[in-house]
Amino acid sequence: MNADTIIYNIKEIITPRRSLAHRGQEMKKVESVFDGFIAIRNGKIIDYGNGNHSKYISESTYLHDAKGNIVIPGLIDSHTHLVHAGSRENEFRQKIKGVPYLNILQQGGGIYNTVEATRAASFSELFQKARQSLDEMLLLGVTTIEAKSGYGLNYETELKQLEVAKKLNEIHPIDIISTYLGAHAVPKEFKDNKEEYINSIIRDLELIRNNELAESVDVFCEESVYTLEDTKRIIEAAKKLGYFARIHADEIHPMGGLGLAVELGASSADHLIAASDKDIKRLANSKTVANLLPSTSFFLNKEYANARKMIDEGCIVSISSDYNPGSSPSENLQFSMQLACNKMKLRPKEVLNAVTINAAYGLGLKEKTGTISKGKAADIVVMDAQNLDYIMYHFGINHTKDVFKNGKLVVKDRQII
Ligand code: NIG
Ligand code: FE
Repeated sequence: MNADTIIYNIKEIITPRRSLAHRGQEMKKVESVFDGFIAIRNGKIIDYGNGNHSKYISESTYLHDAKGNIVIPGLIDSHTHLVHAGSRENEFRQKIKGVPYLNILQQGGGIYNTVEATRAASFSELFQKARQSLDEMLLLGVTTIEAKSGYGLNYETELKQLEVAKKLNEIHPIDIISTYLGAHAVPKEFKDNKEEYINSIIRDLELIRNNELAESVDVFCEESVYTLEDTKRIIEAAKKLGYFARIHADEIHPMGGLGLAVELGASSADHLIAASDKDIKRLANSKTVANLLPSTSFFLNKEYANARKMIDEGCIVSISSDYNPGSSPSENLQFSMQLACNKMKLRPKEVLNAVTINAAYGLGLKEKTGTISKGKAADIVVMDAQNLDYIMYHFGINHTKDVFKNGKLVVKDRQII
């Protein structure tokens, strides 16, 4: 069979093993092929290895020289707040002085600032800003993301955010899985009537589902935001409609959000900085992914989630950027990966599994992407590096050289083409 594209002169192909969610000690394992090639046809990987690839070459085959670098699967960022307007550097000095994140929110700033800006923004303003962020991510080697709404807090604006994400998914190489996060804060106009707002979220779930605007639903379960009971009501209603569930759980206060995520069979429980040991044990016996966000700990000057314990207990761990204007204003998933090593004590191989196959699993995409395997989408990154450890060690810069999305070369020599 001829290939459309062959990537050759690869020092080492480093990939998780196909389609398994890697839990606990399995996260230490990766497959490694030295002096390799990858053959691609119709957007899919048809073969890879270190043998002779000449049998796949025809006159029309594009031969891509990896120039003796390593190759890994396209990175997956499974927690972002991609679509929003404005930025929050006006709160940055308060933050540096030590005003806590939730205090800024309670004073009417924080998420509310971004809600105001997002309500006022046009579709095209939101679209342009988010597209720029997607381009940044693509240059970093990210080929799939999850994107949450949550800066509308009313039907009209939540819909606008979700429609922007849908349109971007159609026109941009990065695949976007959308999440409805109407329960990101309690809108100011419902300050004294949270129940009514929750009722409206539950009503809107059906409309959003019917318009195929979101695959999953998320809730910010946090002191003075949404309680465990609120979260349960929303997630149970969402699950009845076939949504996947995610919860911003135990980010700041130990609310028990992780235990609830396990109980409700959520696809992921995210943050988990303040998760209890008891809930971590329950997580280890579940299919819920611990989606950890070290860039948020870094930016908020918080503890890091106890990733070592989670892995040692046997949990499925993924790592994401949490890109958003308040607690993680950076699209740089490679920085999150570096923090995961340096601050959470993950090993580079564990991190690779966390940002590829485990993230794919958390998004319901493990059969499609997340590994370099025959039959899977050719989402492939050539790193400007000689080994995996180097990427995690040389921090704060971008190591991605070339990116293939569905077999198409979309970044070449650090430029989008
Ligand atoms: O994941 N904590 C809630 N949501 C985001 C922050 C959103 C914002 O501050 O704009 C988070 O940290
Ligand atoms: Fe978040």
